[in-house]
Amino acid sequence: IEDLYWEEIMDHYQNPRNFGKMEDVDASYHDYNPVCGDEVEMQAKMENGTVKEAMFTGKGCAISQAAASMLTEEVRGKSSRAVVAMTKDDMLKIVRINPGPVRIKCAMLALRAVQKGIVQHEANKTLEAK
Ligand code: FES
Repeated sequence: IEDLYWEEIMDHYQNPRNFGKMEDVDASYHDYNPVCGDEVEMQAKMENGTVKEAMFTGKGCAISQAAASMLTEEVRGKSSRAVVAMTKDDMLKIVRINPGPVRIKCAMLALRAVQKGIVQHEANKTLEAK
């Protein structure tokens, strides 16, 4: 059964969903894994504190890119708060494989990036409101 999930990872890696850049994004964050240099940039458009659209670009290992692709689908419709609250366990449920202690970092790269982007966006909003 793990095989099936790996196939899904490979499918997202080879045919990434929501790959590219948008104009006028609200939240965006570029992050990389210092160990291997793999990178992702997550972008989101927000509406009333909710992710309306999400896209990504990046290059790197299959897990990092597949996780980013899966996440763009997953975060759509979620509130900023819900995205920021997502944990490693949530990410494991999304990729549905257990990549092991080292490669879990690959899966976490995109999640941390989208979270940092949203936190930054929320912080800017608060500043603007003052
Ligand atoms: Fe670099 Fe996976 S090996 S993020």
